[in-house]
Amino acid sequence: MRNFDFYSPTRVFFGKGRHEQIGEIIKEYGFRKILLHYGGGSIKRTGLYDVVTKALKNSGIDYVELGGVRPNPVLSLVKKGIELCREEKIELVLAVGGGSVIDSAKLIAVGTMNDCDPWLIVTKEVTPKAALPVGTILTLSATGSETSSSAVITNEELKLKRGYGSDFNRPLFSILNPELTFTVPPYQTACGIVDIMMHTLERYMTQKGEVDITDRIAEAVLKSTIRAGRIVMENPYDYDARATIMWAGSISHNDLTGAGRDYFMITHQLQHEISGMFEIVAHGAGRAVVFPAWLKYTYKQNLSRVCQYAVRVWNCEMDFENPEKTALSGIEETEKYFKSLGMPLTLGELGIGEESIKEMAAKCTNYGTRLLPGFMRYEEKELEEIYRLCL
Ligand code: NZQ
Ligand code: ZN
Repeated sequence: MRNFDFYSPTRVFFGKGRHEQIGEIIKEYGFRKILLHYGGGSIKRTGLYDVVTKALKNSGIDYVELGGVRPNPVLSLVKKGIELCREEKIELVLAVGGGSVIDSAKLIAVGTMNDCDPWLIVTKEVTPKAALPVGTILTLSATGSETSSSAVITNEELKLKRGYGSDFNRPLFSILNPELTFTVPPYQTACGIVDIMMHTLERYMTQKGEVDITDRIAEAVLKSTIRAGRIVMENPYDYDARATIMWAGSISHNDLTGAGRDYFMITHQLQHEISGMFEIVAHGAGRAVVFPAWLKYTYKQNLSRVCQYAVRVWNCEMDFENPEKTALSGIEETEKYFKSLGMPLTLGELGIGEESIKEMAAKCTNYGTRLLPGFMRYEEKELEEIYRLCL
């Protein structure tokens, strides 16, 4: 087991009706003026906006609004949010929505307190020194941004989607009411399930040997997410299944499932280049395409780990004479499951062809300036081959 720091300071308010307490919660922390940040309108359609604004008013919390965050959130809106926070002397940014809204809120909160172009924070050229606190009301289980230290933003001018990590990104509190996810459409629900599995697998599919407790936690998260995923695709109003997925999302990316292991971001990066160039592609859908291809390309580099995954997560039989067969059956089960959720498995299904591969691979390596780790270290040529396996 590797040495590790575990820091997950976000206070989680979980369960039915918890979002109605938003006014009291903010008041208890002592904040008086907040930025209410949200997306393209789902919170208005579901009635959540009315509940939240009423609760804020009842508790005497003054708020300024900034809606319009789009999936794969953009830098220009972040800059607008920063100006607003400075002008209005905002004390806390409240994100009401999915990962895109939360990430946009995180960079607004950090950007407000650091006098620089916020893109320099994303590209890690400037290390942030302070941030406004962020609170969240989560409406979509997927990214784990409600407890994670990361934020992912697209620079529309450069057509680059990049993530950065900082403990300033950890929300102060997150309200998780599974009922708020009942209205998430099936495709988006499926994207979320894939993303949760990926956060767990990016830590699981690493080189470090014996970390039994972390492996078992990760396998439990995977197995219960897979099971609950099947249930919500049949019945989107199943509270316990939605609750399982919501909690799995939060613990899959707060570093618990990686304690003592490495964290290989390779499939994340392969997907970020897809959504960076083709903003229409949902994060989870891109992940469903690249993960099985990456594993097919690379499983021989760590055969025992992929076999462990196949046997413990998918109940595949261990073939001691032919372990490759076991590993491949685990990959096949993963693909079958993604397909059953309605996820794409090829770039073609996302409308992307061979002509984009060279550019995506070059961007993955920041134009040849870095190697991506993950079972082996990948250069541009290998990344192109992985993308080609996705065609
Ligand atoms: O914008 P609105 O109108 O709210 O609609 C959203 C959006 O269209 C809709 N939606 C959200 N909650 C809903 C709902 N529709 C009906 N009912 C509800 N309750 O769903 C659509 C997608 O929302 P979005 O926030 O984009 O999805 P997600 O949560 O998957 O976030 C994706 C973004 O997070 C980043 C991704 O790269 C992507 O940009 N990630 C952030 C991470 C982090 N900060 O730790 C890690 C993740 O792996 C990921 O990279
Ligand atoms: Zn992700």
